[in-house]
Amino acid sequence: MKQRLDTLKAEVMAALNKAASSREITEVKQQYLGRKGPVAALVKELGGLAPELRRAAGESINAVKKALEAEVELRLSDFERREQDALLASETVDVTLPGRRLPLGSLHPVTTVMSEIEDFFGDLGFEVAEGPEIESDYYCFEALNIPKDHPARDMQDTFYVNQDAVLRTHTSPVQIRVMEGRKPPLRIIAPGTVYRRDSDITHTPMFHQVEGFMVDKDITMSHLKGILSSFLKHLFGKKREVRFRPSFFPFTEPSAEVDIQCVLCNGSGCRVCKDTGWLEILGCGMIHPNVFASVEYDSTEVTGFAFGLGIERIAMLKYGIDDLRVFFDNDTKFLRQF
Ligand code: DAH
Repeated sequence: MKQRLDTLKAEVMAALNKAASSREITEVKQQYLGRKGPVAALVKELGGLAPELRRAAGESINAVKKALEAEVELRLSDFERREQDALLASETVDVTLPGRRLPLGSLHPVTTVMSEIEDFFGDLGFEVAEGPEIESDYYCFEALNIPKDHPARDMQDTFYVNQDAVLRTHTSPVQIRVMEGRKPPLRIIAPGTVYRRDSDITHTPMFHQVEGFMVDKDITMSHLKGILSSFLKHLFGKKREVRFRPSFFPFTEPSAEVDIQCVLCNGSGCRVCKDTGWLEILGCGMIHPNVFASVEYDSTEVTGFAFGLGIERIAMLKYGIDDLRVFFDNDTKFLRQF
């Protein structure tokens, strides 16, 4: 046993002497001192020895094993330290290099225009209200005086979630939701996302609107005209002409559409305004008595005006963007300009 241990010890020492890296030391350790190595095999043989020899043999195997393990650890830490020093010496860090800047995001132009509109109306005492994007047929159409089979439904073809629920085609249903729960006086604007079955350069299936309305005793068309004119002059400049044209919406009577002088040609006529000199910008009117009836307001007691406008359209005119789809392409080259 003694001789075999001496030979083994010499063999391991020779292998350790040859090893030239921490990895090679580890390999030697596994090969000789691992569970399947020669030292473990000697320990197994102890069982076959006569009991009086077993104790002394066990002790000497253990002593050799301990000595070899200590030797391995010594060399391993030595190699590891040298390898670490070599790595540090070869890797250079230039602490004078500038840091890497994280790119800073910016607000989407739709968000910017929305906040600008909220700020303007906020200053006039309007509150912001919101409604759900999945809306019932009742709030989206019925309560707004658009009965089933009414031709006005054709202008707002949309996505049905089920027979009675749609992706809202406009923000007008927020009028009903707010009026149902509260009594006049009310000054509300309701910005939000809306959906229609439409897709070309001037239409995307998802876009944004702001709805606004004011209800109180003695609200007249002149309130509507005064507030919307100053709003449009605030957005597009004091010199920009504004005109009101009679129109039709089921939920207002009378109804009007508002145009601004073309922002590209200033009224002289161009491709964008189709040579008319004017751009259509929003719809509005005096809230229809049938709408008041559906929220149990007495239309001999209160009156009100309402309006609705598309945010992307405003942003396009304000920033001179000629394709609506770029708003939703997520191209940072476009978005970074704002
Ligand atoms: N809801 C209309 C649409 O999406 C826009 C609109 C027109 C809203 C007239 C109004 C209004 O409140 O009075 O086409």
